[in-house]
Amino acid sequence: MPSIATTVQASGKKQADTTPPAPTIILAPLRGITDALFRNLLQHHFGGINQAVAPFINPQQKAPFDDKLLRDVLPEANQKTLPVIPQLLHTDPEGFLTLARRLGDLGYQEINWNLGCPAPMVTRKKRGSGFLPHPEEILALLDQVLPQLDLKLSIKTRLGLREPTELLKLLPRFNDYPLTGITIHPRLGCQLYKGTCDLETFKRCLILSRHPLTYNGDLTTADTFQALQQRFPSINSWMIGRGLVANPLLALEIRGERFQQDERIERLHTFHEDLYTSYRRRLAGPSHLLGRMKLIWSYLAASFEQSDKVFKRIRKTNSEEQYLAVVNEVFRESQTARKRHESSCSVPQ
Ligand SMILES: Cc1cc2nc3c(=O)[nH]c(=O)nc-3n(C[C@H](O)[C@H](O)[C@H](O)COP(=O)(O)O)c2cc1C
Repeated sequence: MPSIATTVQASGKKQADTTPPAPTIILAPLRGITDALFRNLLQHHFGGINQAVAPFINPQQKAPFDDKLLRDVLPEANQKTLPVIPQLLHTDPEGFLTLARRLGDLGYQEINWNLGCPAPMVTRKKRGSGFLPHPEEILALLDQVLPQLDLKLSIKTRLGLREPTELLKLLPRFNDYPLTGITIHPRLGCQLYKGTCDLETFKRCLILSRHPLTYNGDLTTADTFQALQQRFPSINSWMIGRGLVANPLLALEIRGERFQQDERIERLHTFHEDLYTSYRRRLAGPSHLLGRMKLIWSYLAASFEQSDKVFKRIRKTNSEEQYLAVVNEVFRESQTARKRHESSCSVPQ
């Protein structure tokens, strides 16, 4: 499968000669990973991110719902250096408005509506990308909600549940509504995360929408970013999820900073220590703690050589002691491997 960088370069488009404005980089919502604690530490240790959309809030019962659901978006849980936009998954206007009002009371001025979640448990209930084959119901919800909503609304979506025509037909109709923007992950819900992003259809979306669009999907390196920026010069807003967990320095690299591997590993080590001790305080018991850390490592391992082996070793650990021993070994080996590589490359005096 070609990477986005090679696909875009192959299109042979000329590089624009004017310097593009600084990109807006938005941390994508990754439920189970990018909670307030992760978002705050990511921004504190690395920075470079302008905004984050929080993972969706999904009350299982009708209002009044338990305020524990809002823990992740409480202002005191979130740092001011990273503005957060809460996300809703509702498809019923009453539940939508109740939660939106509560978020307004907390001080939020904008919320995001999830029309992209591909999880079968969600799509089966006609939510997330499962709502996309029902355009009339989507517009009916907007018709009912928007006149009563004091907050700004943006949408995060995919190209469709089963067909890209689902979004292509909706976009011109969204033009009639006062949305602040639309984030598009150019895959179908039924693909989950398989296959490549459909950049051709994303290009068609640009023509069809009058709203500011944000690109989201498989942005994992500064080269990928540059290739996408050349291909879509009118886009200045980029949402990144898995790429930022795999490489927390990515936002800085997109902004032109470069890091030696030893500095990278050192910074990741400090970040990891902070994450681990903070989650240890927060989560109830070692199995929750290790579960969370392993989920993070399922992406973060990509920052290390032989990432599959690194993740396998960490995944096999089943106590805090074992976990810490293996993780420390991984960091130590990365530094040693680097030093060995340097000395074998050095020119003899
Ligand atoms: C584990 C996981 C959890 C996710 N949770 C959410 C979510 O709560 N809300 C949402 O809109 N998208 C969610 N997504 C989708 C991401 O926000 C994003 O659209 C997708 O990962 C593609 O971007 P990326 O390639 O930069 O990761 C999730 C994705 C993953 C892998």
